[in-house]
Amino acid sequence: MDKLVIHGQRPLKGRVQINGAKNAVLAIVAAACLADDVCVIENIPKIADIDNMLAILRSMNVQTEYLDEHTVRIDSRTMVNCCADSDEVRNMRASYYLLGVLLGRFKYARVSFPGGCDFGVRPIDQHIKGFEALGAEVDAKSIIEIKARELHGTNVFLDVVSVGATINIMLAAVLARGTTVIENAAKEPHVVDTASFLNSMGADIKGAGTDVIRIRGVQKLHGSTYAVIPDQIEAGTYMVAAAITGGDVTVENLIPRHMEAITAKLRESGVKVYEKDDSLRVISEGIRKKPVKIKTLPYPGFPTDMQPQMMAYLATIPGTSIVNESVYDGHRFRYVEQLKRMGANIDVESHIAIVDGVTELVGTEVEATDLRAGAAMVLAGLAAVGETVVTNIKYIDRGYERMVDKFNNMGAWIERVHENQPIPIHHRERAV
Ligand code: EPZ
Repeated sequence: MDKLVIHGQRPLKGRVQINGAKNAVLAIVAAACLADDVCVIENIPKIADIDNMLAILRSMNVQTEYLDEHTVRIDSRTMVNCCADSDEVRNMRASYYLLGVLLGRFKYARVSFPGGCDFGVRPIDQHIKGFEALGAEVDAKSIIEIKARELHGTNVFLDVVSVGATINIMLAAVLARGTTVIENAAKEPHVVDTASFLNSMGADIKGAGTDVIRIRGVQKLHGSTYAVIPDQIEAGTYMVAAAITGGDVTVENLIPRHMEAITAKLRESGVKVYEKDDSLRVISEGIRKKPVKIKTLPYPGFPTDMQPQMMAYLATIPGTSIVNESVYDGHRFRYVEQLKRMGANIDVESHIAIVDGVTELVGTEVEATDLRAGAAMVLAGLAAVGETVVTNIKYIDRGYERMVDKFNNMGAWIERVHENQPIPIHHRERAV
């Protein structure tokens, strides 16, 4: 498996373009299969998770074709009404969307349990609660099997705010008889984007983006051409990269409103953030940073998917910062051990991390333990003294398109080398 060699201490300068939102696309390409028709989805990021999801659809006889690097055509007229039981399903969390789509379209689903980044148990009890409320029978033992004579509108109050359960219940309810109301629904941008896409197919969904979503079932959905929103988490990752390297970066093709919690925290730490219609300029050079407190929350709170990246940044700010992981409890701190190998001073107690910031991190070999942890290792390497080698970068490939190119185009010096290739030893400074 390839690894990244990062030569640190180079402030990032310039601009970076954000791609489409991974967690919107994963739901939308599945949702496209609710119509016995053809959909064209635009602004798709070129990342492994999307390739994986399209492979799962093809395994169910859906025709998928890239019309260009970021546009895919999905023809689900030949889709089989059954199973998704493959390694791709088992190693990706978003494969659970097939449950809602197969149940909604065929009233039957047989899907392996979903996999995904390992930060503790990630149950799907709220998904199942919604499916059963719609009238389905669910048997979730070695595999998940769901069937229903018919699906009828219902009221579901989610016990926890769940992105996946909110979207999956929408997917199953759009063709049900009657109206379904989801209360305590997730409000993430990708939930709203999925609802907007379904409405472009002829669904009747109101309230997405609030905690009460109303879905009036319709007879049929039709194909649609749809452009996905920019990725809030990719954009946040590059904003924090500018902050941690003392740089000056304009992050382009984003929706500033989606970034508000991240922008607020960066400003609180002392960084300047200037907003335009579809870009944010982050200026960190020459600014003395201040420690901050972070609590991850469902949207519009601070996103849990930005917690590792922010932790790397806080580890370099002298003073005491606090990170409270309230979405995944303590399971999402596994990567902290890797940051401590670089000299970070972090104490984790259950779902709270106390960060005693240090003046500098020191490059060494670290491992990407999941997707966003991998991004955090890269950010730490960009700031560290010397060389940082990040291994297990398959995780990074799952969620970030051309990350190395994007960083190097802003003055970073990152090399991707094959695991068996010796680490290149450079006797000369790379020209700035
Ligand atoms: C989605 O996962 C994202 N993945 C995750 O992003 C993200 O971390 C998460 O939402 C929270 O924003 C995709 O969209 C593919 P949840 P999901 O259901 O849907 C508990 C990334 O890096 N819960 O909102 O699985 C759950 O354990 C990935 O892009 C239940 O208890 O998250 C967690 O504590 C990582 N029962 C909390 O709710 C359920 O039935 C939030 O989970 C479902 C969830």
